[in-house]
Amino acid sequence: MPNFASFNRKQYLFALLLVCSVMCYVYTIMMSPEGLDWSITYRRDRDEQTSLWNFRDIGDQQLYLYESVLQNKWRSNVTKRDNMRQELANFRSELSGSWLVVLHQENITEEEGAKFVFNHKFNGISPELFKQLPKINPLSHGKRYRSCAVVGNSGTMLHSGCGKEIDKHDYVFRCNIPPLVPFERDAGTKSNFTTMNPSILNKRYQSLKVDEQIDQFNDFMSQFNGVILSVCHGFAIPISTIMRAMGNLKREQLKIVCANPMHVQSVAEFWLERNIRARLSTGFYMVTTAIQLCDEVELYGFWPFSERFGENKTSVPYHYFDESSCKTSNRVHTMDKEFAILVQLHNLGIIRINMASCS
Ligand SMILES: *[C@@H]1O[C@H](CO)[C@@H](O)[C@H](O)[C@H]1NC(C)=O
Ligand SMILES: *[C@@H]1O[C@H](CO)[C@@H](O)[C@H](O)[C@H]1NC(C)=O
Ligand SMILES: *[C@@H]1O[C@H](CO)[C@@H](O)[C@H](O)[C@H]1NC(C)=O
Ligand SMILES: *[C@@H]1O[C@H](CO)[C@@H](O)[C@H](O)[C@H]1NC(C)=O
Repeated sequence: MPNFASFNRKQYLFALLLVCSVMCYVYTIMMSPEGLDWSITYRRDRDEQTSLWNFRDIGDQQLYLYESVLQNKWRSNVTKRDNMRQELANFRSELSGSWLVVLHQENITEEEGAKFVFNHKFNGISPELFKQLPKINPLSHGKRYRSCAVVGNSGTMLHSGCGKEIDKHDYVFRCNIPPLVPFERDAGTKSNFTTMNPSILNKRYQSLKVDEQIDQFNDFMSQFNGVILSVCHGFAIPISTIMRAMGNLKREQLKIVCANPMHVQSVAEFWLERNIRARLSTGFYMVTTAIQLCDEVELYGFWPFSERFGENKTSVPYHYFDESSCKTSNRVHTMDKEFAILVQLHNLGIIRINMASCS
């Protein structure tokens, strides 16, 4: 029992000073924007130290919770998956089966062509574009793909070693023609359905106006199989550039196709009804399409955030294949609505999001 009465004045002042400095120190740590450290450690018992996260904002906390949910054992629920697919099919005919996902000659008549209004320079489907469209539906119809992988471009793919696992799927979706060969170990090389943002044709190949660029384009595209899906009805890139790419592609087992504008719109409206108002990301469009076309859907490389809270906090590059960083990756609040939906679909057993490394 300390006997305060026995403190002399000097001791008392000293003790007061000590208490004040400790409080001041603690206050400084708590209020500094960086904090002292990202985790605090306390001694639970003699042998074990337990680290706890000391989250500085709700966004970090949310990432931690996502990560924890995604580490739980996953169970598929075929009933829920079928219900979800049925919900899509009931919403619009474009979201049912595979007939109306990409434009092809079978399902378009001359009059119907006018339905697809492309941009101010281009109304309907011109006879020249019609000729470039596949004669028959390039997607399997009447039968869904049994197992599909949708490969996103997040930096979480790096060092994942998931290439073999991805390639085991019957059908592989990829986003925005990523380089395949150098990343075989982490991301695999199988490709069946890959999107291409047509602005790449301008940026990388100067609109394919010179033979040399056409050759470079063909070199790069030789890594891919199946279909390359482009939004042909956007405003940024003239349809003539996309048609030049279609006409100059030399690879027989590869076809550049146009997304059916009605399909793109139906997917957006389906999610609008479910309160996603912003423009959909390509990845989210692909996942919806994969649910429509496949039995099993597994996601790789979907983590649109710049940090992870696994055992340690680590930063995540925006893409696994280049150094680009993007505004959307900086903070949680841009893609988080979409990702919150994906996590729910994972939790319900409809799709599976893979975050762990593959052994
Ligand atoms: C799957 O979902 C259905 C319908 O929501 C539910 O009744 C069933 O218990 C679930 N099955 C499993 C294995 O979780
Ligand atoms: C598309 O065309 C094919 C072949 O003519 C036909 O079997 C199919 O029912 C059509 N689908 C739609 C949705 O129009
Ligand atoms: C997917 O593409 C690979 C080549 O990358 C091919 O071997 C495979 O048959 C394709 N799968 C389907 C279902 O078309
Ligand atoms: C996490 O950090 C600790 C301490 O720096 C380190 O010993 C451990 O190996 C790290 N774990 C992983 C999975 O990187």
